[in-house]
Amino acid sequence: MLLRASPSAAFTLSTAVENVNKFPSSSSSSSACFPSSSSRRTDGFVMSASKNESNSRSPVTGVVFEPFEEVKKELRLVPDLPQQSLARHKFLDECEAAINEQINVEYNVSYVYHALFAYFDRDNVALKGFAKFFKEASVEEREHAELLMEYQNKRGGRVKLQTILMPMSEFDHPEKGEALYAMELALSLEKLTNEKLLNLHSVADKYNDVQLADFVESTFLTEQVEAIKKISEFVAQLRRIGKGHGVWHFDQMLLDA
Ligand SMILES: [Fe+2]
Ligand SMILES: [Fe+2]
Repeated sequence: MLLRASPSAAFTLSTAVENVNKFPSSSSSSSACFPSSSSRRTDGFVMSASKNESNSRSPVTGVVFEPFEEVKKELRLVPDLPQQSLARHKFLDECEAAINEQINVEYNVSYVYHALFAYFDRDNVALKGFAKFFKEASVEEREHAELLMEYQNKRGGRVKLQTILMPMSEFDHPEKGEALYAMELALSLEKLTNEKLLNLHSVADKYNDVQLADFVESTFLTEQVEAIKKISEFVAQLRRIGKGHGVWHFDQMLLDA
């Protein structure tokens, strides 16, 4: 006769224990009947269970997972109205509003960069490297806005675009010159964007929206810190150069980048 303990055979195991105890043994303790997890043969009787194993494999009672019963509550939460999001789940209005605010920040920064592109592309300014740099920066900020829009839709929020302020159109500065002034402006805008992103992250934290916090961290925060470092270096270099001939070389560097 061969018996093996298994979780699904709890009854068989307990029956076997009773049977084993009927056999003569040198010790009356249960641990002597089941030495560790090794097998013991007694007149053709083999057990492959230890005392601990028999404890851990005791039958679980009173716990029955009934998915269709449990999902009934969720089923009631699925909206019927066509204008309501079906995907929305654990997404608060405060997080939705904070995302819309960040979309507006990205669009505003994009608009200023576009104005800078238009300025440096003028025939009497003609710093084509700067024009290229700010055009790309403008597109990048618009892409950031779009990433936030896609995320808003993914979570079942609604994108609400707000007003964009009219940016300046003249960027020449009597002491600094246009190149340094524009780059310092860009640095301040990137720092402002960073601050707004951190605000968005703190809203996600406050309302325990782990997914939104993860999205902000993984998609924006690292890149934002890198952008601040890069533009800081440009500002430092332009401060060394001053106005004039050096700016033309800097512009060529941006053109080739
Ligand atoms: Fe951005
Ligand atoms: Fe940026």
